[in-house]
Amino acid sequence: MSGINYSEKIPNNVNLSEDRTLQRALEQWQPNFVSWWDDIGPEGSTDSEVYLRTAVSVDPQGWAQFGHVKMRDYRWGIFLNPGSDDRTIAFGDHKGEKAWTDVPGEYRANLRRIIVTQGDTEPASVEQQRHLGLTAPSMYDLRNLYQINVEEGRHLWAMVYLLHKHFGRDGREEADALLERRSGDEDNPRILGAFNEATPDWLSFFMFTYFTDRDGKFQLAALSESAFDPLARTTKFMLTEEAHHMFVGESGVARTIQRTAQVMNELKTDDVNKLRAAGVIDLPTIQRYLNFHFSVTIDLFGADESSNAATFYSTGLKSRYEEGKRDDDHILKDKTYPVLVAKDGGIETKEVPMLNALNEVLRDDYIKDSVAGVERWNKVLTKAGIPFQLRVPHKAFNRNIGALAGANVTPEGQVVSETEWKARAGEWLPSTEDRAFVASLMGRVVEPGKFANWIAPPAMGVNRMPIEFDYVRFN
Ligand SMILES: [Fe+2]
Ligand SMILES: [Fe+2]
Repeated sequence: MSGINYSEKIPNNVNLSEDRTLQRALEQWQPNFVSWWDDIGPEGSTDSEVYLRTAVSVDPQGWAQFGHVKMRDYRWGIFLNPGSDDRTIAFGDHKGEKAWTDVPGEYRANLRRIIVTQGDTEPASVEQQRHLGLTAPSMYDLRNLYQINVEEGRHLWAMVYLLHKHFGRDGREEADALLERRSGDEDNPRILGAFNEATPDWLSFFMFTYFTDRDGKFQLAALSESAFDPLARTTKFMLTEEAHHMFVGESGVARTIQRTAQVMNELKTDDVNKLRAAGVIDLPTIQRYLNFHFSVTIDLFGADESSNAATFYSTGLKSRYEEGKRDDDHILKDKTYPVLVAKDGGIETKEVPMLNALNEVLRDDYIKDSVAGVERWNKVLTKAGIPFQLRVPHKAFNRNIGALAGANVTPEGQVVSETEWKARAGEWLPSTEDRAFVASLMGRVVEPGKFANWIAPPAMGVNRMPIEFDYVRFN
């Protein structure tokens, strides 16, 4: 592979064409990326022209250029937010020192691990979502799915750039492995649990983009103040794109609820069977999907007590959410933080050194942010006069990581026996029947301006285009 004009082919602000070593490494990786995309990227999308947002620079005019683009010709760019030469480290043992433009040898392994773990989630979600285009509820939604898919592809490029640029041969090997693992594969799965779950239907997709992309927001935010400046600047730019992914999830669930509420009012019923017969998703099923995606996602923050979390913070690799806005010493050596423990019959709080509890701190900030959107969903119900409210389950419900793993806790936070938990799991988590019902509603609707029966149209189109605009041109 030679002769690729990188400044043309890959929009970038990292002087790609002036770094021969880096360019060679990317030239070898790029065809593998394309064949990964062809193999396991969005099914049936190859020839479609999609109204996509492409970032061509990081300034306000450049990062959101809209136009019809063939999916395979999308220009996956590499962007770092502008830096400043005198940025200092805001937390940990190196607080006040100058931020690093290169990787310090002693932190190399940990930084690589952080970048690889983040990088692994990006192609994973593309794999998880690859069949969804076949059952899109509208052309508008199909376009949003594709937008998310190409941007997750770009996020993979962002992490691969760091690996190639700063980690030499190990970095190149890790970049190759990012294209080799597969979501849900028994022999070579993706690194984190939630990224090996299937995303089989559009309600799952909306819950995933609401809850799991929001985990992305918090992880990226915690890396955006990293002492390793290239990582901080890369993740800052990724955050601008992440906001759209969460919007797709939040508005997708809101539109699903809106349509259900409308049919409940028309039929004057909350009877699950009647609503299902009318082709909309009953609210208890939506609650069970919410319980599942929330609990699986909060596991992504890791064990409540973690010496790695303490190390990552103290060495300046990963901060808290909005570290700069907090008014403590940013070293945290004398602070404690409450974590939960399930004891026979109840849940107790235990104070532990805050440095060891930083996963829990990030998880709690995430939970606060998630709850706010659920309240906005409830407003849709209130406005429609429906006396039903969705709720985020207790933090200890359905956990598989940390001290709460395997504790038998209900969504309300009651500890029950294992037998009772198992017997009642169908009330709390989507059952096989729920999933089969939701799957039965998933038919492809892609005429411009038409929507599947189970979902309301959006309030407005993409980039101020009309709702019936031809967002996807099939060829
Ligand atoms: Fe991403
Ligand atoms: Fe995302």
